[in-house]
Amino acid sequence: MQHILILETTCDETAAAVVTDSLDVLASVVASQDELHRRYGGVVPEIASRAHVERILPVIDAVLRRAKLTASDLDAVAVANTPGLAGSLLVGLSAAKALSLALSVPLVAVNHLQAHIYACRLAAGRDVFPCLGLIVSGGHTSLYRCAGPLDFELLGGTIDDAAGEAFDKVANLLGLPFPGGPAVERAARDGNPRAYDLPRPLVDSDRLDFSFSGLKTAVRYRIHPPGQAAAGAPLEARTVADLAASFQEAVIDCLVAKTMLAADRTALEVLCVGGGVAANSRLRERLAQESGKRGIEMIVPPPELCTDNAVMGAIAVERLKAGLTEPLSLDVAPGLVRKSTK
Ligand code: KG4
Ligand code: ZN
Repeated sequence: MQHILILETTCDETAAAVVTDSLDVLASVVASQDELHRRYGGVVPEIASRAHVERILPVIDAVLRRAKLTASDLDAVAVANTPGLAGSLLVGLSAAKALSLALSVPLVAVNHLQAHIYACRLAAGRDVFPCLGLIVSGGHTSLYRCAGPLDFELLGGTIDDAAGEAFDKVANLLGLPFPGGPAVERAARDGNPRAYDLPRPLVDSDRLDFSFSGLKTAVRYRIHPPGQAAAGAPLEARTVADLAASFQEAVIDCLVAKTMLAADRTALEVLCVGGGVAANSRLRERLAQESGKRGIEMIVPPPELCTDNAVMGAIAVERLKAGLTEPLSLDVAPGLVRKSTK
């Protein structure tokens, strides 16, 4: 049996996991930085990378302890090296390279977006490919044709803000805490999703793309009309709940419409959904309904495997088995994946 250590430091979670080559998860640790970024209402890259430096070794120690292993029991080290924040990615990559060199074990590269889809493979406990992949995270909202675990083709994605980013920014406008997604979802539970008539950008076009920037601005204008300063009295609880519910429904309408368009076009029969926004219960419910109508099997991981974690990096096992290991010259590939860049 082989033991693979996986590191994940793409954004603001310092995470590590140990899995076997048969995809058994022996241990998983996620050190969240939410507390550090809350006062700024969003992730501050420099703070994130410094926190990763402080946490990466204790997190590796903890995961090995929980797996009842020592470093010498490891057979490979995997690390997410793209996409993400440059400084954050570098911390995980440096740690993984050092371990790979010191232990003389292979280094495996993980694509963070592909790993989000692979979380569905782990949750299902069986093969899910070929499938349509929807990734809804803080930086990405993308549709992929996933022919196999090593074969992802980008079909479309957001042309501006990501869905999670829109949740975070709207939460900020509504005076809700960071991270915005869970806060908006909570507030929306008491709200009326039809209280505000918000736009559903691109929903009537035949493009497999998303756009959430205008929707965010539309919420901003419901709070403070154009030309009016953003400062003012706190919003009434009813207004917050209704705006949160109306915004959430608008985002979900866009996500569902384009995902179903992609399903119709590709004729794929399995839909795998990953990324932090996939933790949203209303999105899960709506995607399940629409998939059900088309006879598509929808797979979405439990919430803790939707938000960033290292377990999903078990996609490294597929690479390892295919002989896809990396030299120590492996670099990070930071930034966002957009259709024009890939
Ligand atoms: O995948 P993830 O943990 O990190 C990135 O790769 O970006 O996604 C984080 C994003 C944040 O924008 C967060 O607000 C959003 O996922 N999110 C949610 C929920 N939980 C997390 N959005 C909507 N509803 C949720 N329940
Ligand atoms: Zn992510």
